[in-house]
Amino acid sequence: MGDSSLKNDNCRIVSICNMKGGTGKTTTAVNLSTGLILLDKNVNVLAVDLDPQSNLSITFGIDVINLKQSMGDVLMNEGTRLHDILYRLKRLHIAPATMDLAMKQRQLQALPDGAFHLNDRLQQVRDEYNYIIIDTPPQSTLLLDSALYASDEIIIPIDVGYYSMVGIREFLSIFERIRKRNPKLQLSGVLITFVEQTVLARDVMEAAKRQFGDSLFRSVIHKNVRLAEAPSAHKPIYLYDSKCTGSQDYIGFCREFLARNRAKTQAQRTAEETT
Ligand SMILES: Nc1ncnc2c1ncn2[C@@H]1O[C@H](COP(=O)(O)OP(=O)(O)OP(=O)(O)O)[C@@H](O)[C@H]1O
Ligand SMILES: [Mg+2]
Repeated sequence: MGDSSLKNDNCRIVSICNMKGGTGKTTTAVNLSTGLILLDKNVNVLAVDLDPQSNLSITFGIDVINLKQSMGDVLMNEGTRLHDILYRLKRLHIAPATMDLAMKQRQLQALPDGAFHLNDRLQQVRDEYNYIIIDTPPQSTLLLDSALYASDEIIIPIDVGYYSMVGIREFLSIFERIRKRNPKLQLSGVLITFVEQTVLARDVMEAAKRQFGDSLFRSVIHKNVRLAEAPSAHKPIYLYDSKCTGSQDYIGFCREFLARNRAKTQAQRTAEETT
């Protein structure tokens, strides 16, 4: 499964975001981070939990109640370095969050450059990773803005529910606002989640196809009870049940994500060579 072609590529910082709650952001962040590691033995990944709910940290089995330092400290205290809080699972490193991130966010809001602290901290470690995947909270907050200022690209998971396409318009206006200060930010793609054989699901998928065209990932994530169970076992889906639909869906999505990134890198190189 190893593939060395990404070895010397620059790091890509990817935020998983949607202001709507429960669309599969955390599930995607966990299984994309792990999937990249499984698919490419040369890749180093940092998964950043930027949600006070701490769901990503908990899914990776981190005891968030007893953590002494976490992302809130990294963002607010100059003295806490990202390296000080990392959980290292071989090539996958995790920067955990705890509930105090909500309070730290309020403190950051009082600072003129508070929304740029994350960018500053991630730039310091960027060289050590091929991918930095950020899990974001489901509201428009300074934490979401911070993630978008720090990112090269975003993935938007949308569930096939009635309100998904309404919320997405609101999110896209935030995306455009952030791009004024972070012009490198790109839409990596939209990922449809919780897919079922229903008329509503089919309608949402068709509407998403019309709105996003090529930006829609061809891979979709079906509703699968194993994906709902895996967090309580503190495992990514591949280690919880490698044969289930959820596992196959997510590994297919990771392959598509890698292929798109390779194509983008190649196009960029060609453009640089010809100018
Ligand atoms: N494809 C799926 N099939 C079934 N259950 C899923 C699927 N994806 C995620 N889940 C479950 O649905 C719930 C919501 O998923 P998740 O936590 O990933 O969403 P989220 O967008 O991060 O939520 P929040 O907005 O609260 O951060 C979780 O309990 C998760 O285990
Ligand atoms: Mg979440």
